[in-house]
Amino acid sequence: MFKEVKLITKLHQSTKRNYLQRMNDNKIKCMKVAKKFESQYWDGKRRFGYGGYKYIPGRFENMAKNLIKKYKLKSNSRVLDIGCGKGYLMYEIKKIIPEIKVYGLDISRYAIKASKKNFKNNFFVHDASKKLPFKKNYFDLTLSINVLHNLKINDFEKAIKEINRVSRKSFIVLESYNNEKELFNLQCWALTCQSFFSKDEWKWLFKRFKYSGDFEFIFFR
Ligand SMILES: C[S@@+](CC[C@H](N)C(=O)[O-])C[C@H]1O[C@@H](n2cnc3c(N)ncnc32)[C@H](O)[C@@H]1O
Repeated sequence: MFKEVKLITKLHQSTKRNYLQRMNDNKIKCMKVAKKFESQYWDGKRRFGYGGYKYIPGRFENMAKNLIKKYKLKSNSRVLDIGCGKGYLMYEIKKIIPEIKVYGLDISRYAIKASKKNFKNNFFVHDASKKLPFKKNYFDLTLSINVLHNLKINDFEKAIKEINRVSRKSFIVLESYNNEKELFNLQCWALTCQSFFSKDEWKWLFKRFKYSGDFEFIFFR
């Protein structure tokens, strides 16, 4: 049965966001550019996405430590990051446990190319809604952080089924909302989100799609 955990909320809340400015800044065009997940999204202007996604020493360190502790990761563990971006979280985990086997996939060619600087193998371009090239329970842990709300609901179902199949344990993080204010802020801020669901709706989907791992929601306050 799926379970709520809190591993990323503090980091998410440490970023300041001007919701109205984003909504009023040619947002339709910005959404179209962002949804390509190419250079503009990662390293272009903030209106298209991250506004420069660089490795910041220590940014993911606590999260990596918490994941290692919670999921009892060891040197013989295998971890997959779905929507790994430039691979910084996996890099942080590998810094702590150098022998661990980390894998990453992302729909973004640009991000995967950047990840190759740290990881020669096991990082590849792939759409999370497509069949994963791994056998049943291949991974001790599969992560997908701030990724799966970017899928349409039918593709979300396919992604969840694949995560269930290839993972012993899993942890996914999704954008969501508790009230009208958070829904409004999310709608202002989101450039790439396809599935806007409240917490209860996401949980209803987990049941329906038989998601068996852990989850966390991030909110826009
Ligand atoms: C908000 S970023 C999160 C990146 C990283 N997980 C992190 O937390 O820093 C969303 C990521 O999802 C990826 N993505 C979006 N749609 C995807 C899909 N269908 N399959 C795989 N990755 C996808 C994007 O390229 C991007 O790397």
